[in-house]
Amino acid sequence: MGDARLLLRAEEVRSFDTPELHALLADMRDTMQALNGVGLAAPQIGVNLRVVIFGVQHNPRYPDAEPVPQTVLLNPVITPSSSDTEEDWEGCLSVPGMRGLVPRFKVIRYQGCDEYGALLDRTVSGFHARVVQHECDHLDGILYPMRIRDLRQFGYSDVLFPDGNVPEE
Ligand code: NI
Repeated sequence: MGDARLLLRAEEVRSFDTPELHALLADMRDTMQALNGVGLAAPQIGVNLRVVIFGVQHNPRYPDAEPVPQTVLLNPVITPSSSDTEEDWEGCLSVPGMRGLVPRFKVIRYQGCDEYGALLDRTVSGFHARVVQHECDHLDGILYPMRIRDLRQFGYSDVLFPDGNVPEE
């Protein structure tokens, strides 16, 4: 946070299944795994493209996290299924060591494609919907602290959650 590249609107991906795109995704997977994240957007590693990855299987660090399929999502479009929102804690690999209470739509439809250009169209809720909204915000230059309604609900993870953890995206 503080790097101007995180505040840009990222560019659409126009070429699929290229060596450059596969190399970017490999870098992103390595970064996400090394930092134990549940999602990552290309701008977080300095690449201004509309590319996100996310996914969590059972992770002992986050025993309460619902499983989310490992997904590569390019050029995403999010449509909320209703105006209902809910708040929950989020972290971000670009805002290390912090957590905040963030409102998100409960149910969304997201569309886009994978690295081969195959269309993706899913309607999801809860944690899955939250992760997608968080990652796609990165493509529009939005970091989760910008969405916190009450900054008293923003702080250091080890102070807010001395006994546990919540996922970082
Ligand atoms: Ni993030």
